[in-house]
Amino acid sequence: MSTGLLKGKKGIIFGALNDQSIAWKVAEKAHEEGAEFVLTNAPIAMRMGEINNLAEKTGSTVIPADATSVEDIENLIDQSMKILGGKIDFILHSIGMSVNVRKGRHYTDEKYDWTMKGLDVSALSFHKVLQTAYKKEAINDWGSVLALSYIAAQRVFPDYNDMADNKSYLESIARSFGYHYGVKSKVRVNTISQSPTMTTAGSGVKGFNEFISYSEKMSPLGNATADDCANYCVSLFSDLTRYVTMQNLFHDGGFSNTGVTQEVIEKFAD
Ligand SMILES: NC(=O)c1ccc[n+]([C@@H]2O[C@H](COP(=O)([O-])OP(=O)(O)OC[C@H]3O[C@@H](n4cnc5c(N)ncnc54)[C@H](O)[C@@H]3O)[C@@H](O)[C@H]2O)c1
Repeated sequence: MSTGLLKGKKGIIFGALNDQSIAWKVAEKAHEEGAEFVLTNAPIAMRMGEINNLAEKTGSTVIPADATSVEDIENLIDQSMKILGGKIDFILHSIGMSVNVRKGRHYTDEKYDWTMKGLDVSALSFHKVLQTAYKKEAINDWGSVLALSYIAAQRVFPDYNDMADNKSYLESIARSFGYHYGVKSKVRVNTISQSPTMTTAGSGVKGFNEFISYSEKMSPLGNATADDCANYCVSLFSDLTRYVTMQNLFHDGGFSNTGVTQEVIEKFAD
């Protein structure tokens, strides 16, 4: 049910690869709530073509951009302002990739050029997006910028590998840039720390199915779905959350504050 929460808002959504992607769900909900936006993804992801279905469904334009390239981001922001007819109100950064994870390289045996690539794609790209928007004065006052994170930034989940370090860096950028952007033009910057979710990026992590079941049992409300994550993103793009900034916000059914649940204890009963 739409309430027109984002009516008149304009944005850029990074990271919709297929209909399982969190960004895909955010685009659907943002459209339902009246927003207009540009969709973007890495040129290589475009070749799969699925994003065009989403663009059609949401009346959006697709602009390819490699989020590690400042030149691509500059072009994306210039083009988006032209297409949308002015400054933007929200950006979703929904991007993550680790070459070490992809190639099964252990955390104690990282190949550092892969580490640097993953860091650039998963974290530094967020700084690049923010810095480019900041310099171009591309975001309206009280705008909202969000990135997606995971609790491995705070606690060890061994198979998450170097993505844990990337997420720590990502969350730190939200705090640091959130300060400067808040002072300059009241733009808020946050990360959402989402439950494990069955997507292309998620399922690349070793033992992911078992991990989703464990997390489900360790969360009083159960794992938060991608659809619910999209609802949370929409609320953070809206004017109802104007004073929330520089935060890492857990959207995880209570997992982050749970030591153990009765269901998990029972698994260990003699
Ligand atoms: N799935 C989970 O369990 C989970 C949990 C918490 C947080 N997250 C985070 O949510 C975000 C979205 O991931 P998802 O689970 O929807 O998976 P996904 O695979 O659908 O999305 C990841 C996106 O990153 C894009 N990407 C990769 N390299 C890029 C580049 N150089 N430039 C631009 N885009 C690039 C991919 O094309 C893809 O669209 C990621 O930051 C991920 O770490 C996921």
